[in-house]
Amino acid sequence: MALYSEKVMDHFRNPRNVGVIEDADAVGEVGNAKCGDIMKMYLKIDGDVVSDVKFETFGCGSAIASSSMATELIKGQPLSEAGRLTNKAVAEALDGLPDYKMHCSVLAEQAIRSALEDYYSRHPEKKPQN
Ligand code: FES
Repeated sequence: MALYSEKVMDHFRNPRNVGVIEDADAVGEVGNAKCGDIMKMYLKIDGDVVSDVKFETFGCGSAIASSSMATELIKGQPLSEAGRLTNKAVAEALDGLPDYKMHCSVLAEQAIRSALEDYYSRHPEKKPQN
């Protein structure tokens, strides 16, 4: 079996939603101290919905594929759903990642969480009550 699924290769070669949102409503940035990879997420929020999302990832192919897939999974979703996105869901949507690359999908989950935290710190009244 190939090391990486076709979906991973596709999102690595043609990442969706790459870039910066200049007037973003929220920005999250995370890094992995071990590998040194960095991921930045920009969110545009309309009401309670993630209306747009872009990312910049300085990292490995799996991190790029994970961020690309993560942006696709939360775009158009309510904030509450975006906040529930797990790295497992990202990896599953990519048809799997090798075990030693799972931490790359964790970075995507954390980047979204970090962006949402930024948003809730600016708009505490929007924070979903779980
Ligand atoms: Fe660090 Fe992939 S090797 S995020």
